[in-house]
Amino acid sequence: MRRALISDIHGNYEALQAVFADIEKRGIEEVYFLGDLVGYGPDAPACIDLVSRECKVHLLGNHDHALLSAAVGFNRVAKQAIDCQRDQMRPDGEDADKQRRWDYLSSLEERFQDGKFLHVHASPHDPIYEYVLETDAMFNHEKLKVVFDRMECIAFVGHTHVPGVMIEEPRWYGAEELHYEWEFKPGKQIINLGSVGQPRDRDPRACYVEVDGEICRWHRVEYDIDAVIEKVKAVDCLDDRNGLRLLQGR
Ligand SMILES: [Fe+2]
Repeated sequence: MRRALISDIHGNYEALQAVFADIEKRGIEEVYFLGDLVGYGPDAPACIDLVSRECKVHLLGNHDHALLSAAVGFNRVAKQAIDCQRDQMRPDGEDADKQRRWDYLSSLEERFQDGKFLHVHASPHDPIYEYVLETDAMFNHEKLKVVFDRMECIAFVGHTHVPGVMIEEPRWYGAEELHYEWEFKPGKQIINLGSVGQPRDRDPRACYVEVDGEICRWHRVEYDIDAVIEKVKAVDCLDDRNGLRLLQGR
């Protein structure tokens, strides 16, 4: 069994296309999407069309939820992007594509259990909004205990945009220190996919996970960041920083 897991696309169509090309090149046929199609980037509609067509599992992220309802607890730049996209994408009774995309976002699920694998956007405890952070392994043991209590075995998450593994000890391993490969261990573990469209581990390349039997691998994919920066600049209601931060991978 081989499968690709992607999340946190955030309207970055260049990164998404590059990731799908990489998945196809590796001969992986099944793709699960773990949330956050919208927010930050300039091409949310195109990303929705590609993911809704190509993926087998479709989960809800906090930005998708915020677009459908309200951006609560978001910083100013993130809220501005969501409000901008909501204005552009809200169904108007005339455009069938708008309605289809809105219906698709409204259909996204909060969790998907597949044998021993749980899939959520954020955390087994709060599948949409809670961050499982690297620093929690040092400073937030009680929080992590609650999180691990809500899962059976292995959980895949996105949300922080930082790829790696949290084990129950607790201890965090960044994907780079693992040389981008993790063999599933006995006990509980939370595996973070990293982000397709806005990595935050100081590596600007798009990131996704391949699950191959008992091994998971993170793959990094280069794409045309400058093209995305120019697109962001061309959208009046998106802050330029949404593009420029992609160069730093943060
Ligand atoms: Fe995200």
